Amino acid sequence: MAELNFDVIVIGAGAAGMMCAAQAGRRGRKVLIIDHAEKLAEKIRISGGGRCNFTNRRVGPENFLSRNPHFARSALARYGSAQFIELVERHGIRYHERNLGQLFCDESAQQIIDMLRAECEDGGVRFAMPLRVEAVARQEDALARFAVDTARGRYTCTNLVIACGGLSIPKIGATPFGYRIAEQFGIPVVPPRPALVPLTLPPETLQRFASLAGCSLDIEAQCNGGRFREAALITHRGLSGPVVLQVSSYWQAQAYDAGDWAPVCFNLLPGIDAQAWLEQHAGDRGLLANLLAERLPRRFAHAWCALHGWERPLNRFRAAELKIVATALSAWEIMPSGTQGYAKAEVTLGGVDTRALSSKTMEASACKGLHFVGEVMDITGHLGGFNFQWAWSSGHAAGQSV
Ligand code: FDA
Repeated sequence: MAELNFDVIVIGAGAAGMMCAAQAGRRGRKVLIIDHAEKLAEKIRISGGGRCNFTNRRVGPENFLSRNPHFARSALARYGSAQFIELVERHGIRYHERNLGQLFCDESAQQIIDMLRAECEDGGVRFAMPLRVEAVARQEDALARFAVDTARGRYTCTNLVIACGGLSIPKIGATPFGYRIAEQFGIPVVPPRPALVPLTLPPETLQRFASLAGCSLDIEAQCNGGRFREAALITHRGLSGPVVLQVSSYWQAQAYDAGDWAPVCFNLLPGIDAQAWLEQHAGDRGLLANLLAERLPRRFAHAWCALHGWERPLNRFRAAELKIVATALSAWEIMPSGTQGYAKAEVTLGGVDTRALSSKTMEASACKGLHFVGEVMDITGHLGGFNFQWAWSSGHAAGQSV
């Protein structure tokens, strides 16, 4: 690459980086995008089971966790799911809707990668990958350009966009590079943690559930203000499934509030008045577990009753005891021992503190020309296409301003 000076350099050719580069390129900016990976946008390729849940029809700021909850509003309002769907349709990509407004490609996630690559090519964006960035510095001259030192030499730019994602799935190239750059320029970082991640259970609880691995339940889970109803899955290491991934982000977020760790609370019979239901059956001679098995998997119902020492016929429970059972069914508290970590986390909670960024341009208030987009920021979406939507919205916002 003979060219060394660019208007914009984007570091990270993932979802947010390519969206930003394409926008800037189409506005006539001279753009270079650098990535250390061999393959383009691996996270998009493996997303949504290979079909990429690229957005959600119902996106709002309430679908995101952040220390600065209103930050996402502006970028989402200017480039929301309708705009991305329009782009997908323009590229002739067929898609379908699954539950709760989630949109997936009919064929392959690769189509989204090809679409973003085509958009970048339309904007004349240059790709440099695989290429390792060795250092970034602000030049101390009147132009105050950024110097990006790489294994192939120095590139300079007026606007530098950091789009290198979070820490989840290190084996496909996740690094803390974005946080290091923020720190270098004095921008605070909210401590990162794995999110949308399976929860692990203490050995004694796990032992009791060992025989239940593979068991799936439609339940409601809540923790620290997050409340979801979807499937939970019992695994050999603890709990997984969409509802557990969702609530894991809220369980992890507690640490930020420096409060005591609260358990996750499960309603095993969502939409049902457990107490009234049990009272209706108070005189039955059958086991409590057999009644529960009408609404829960049989294996689970028996193990759950054994866990509580409730292996008796219903007519041998006193009214006060049935009340306790009802409470345990509608608010069963479990304290996880931890999470399965970044190796299994879909996203990273925390990141570059958005209070130090402009919500319109994603530019750092303290460092003109330096932008952060996508998952590297302290904006974490719920499961269901929201994290990609944040990549598109924030990438678009920065791409329109650089
Ligand atoms: P992204 O991680 O996409 O890109 C960052 C890029 O920066 C990478 O190409 C990386 O190689 C590069 N990079 C990192 N460090 C670097 C360095 N030091 N130098 C140069 N380059 C560097 N979300 C969703 O909405 N729907 C879904 O279906 C899924 N599914 C899903 C499945 C799995 C298994 C995972 C792990 C994650 C998801 N997600 C998801 C989350 C989604 O993939 C994620 O939020 C976005 O990819 C974030 O986009 P970014 O562009 O910010 O980072």
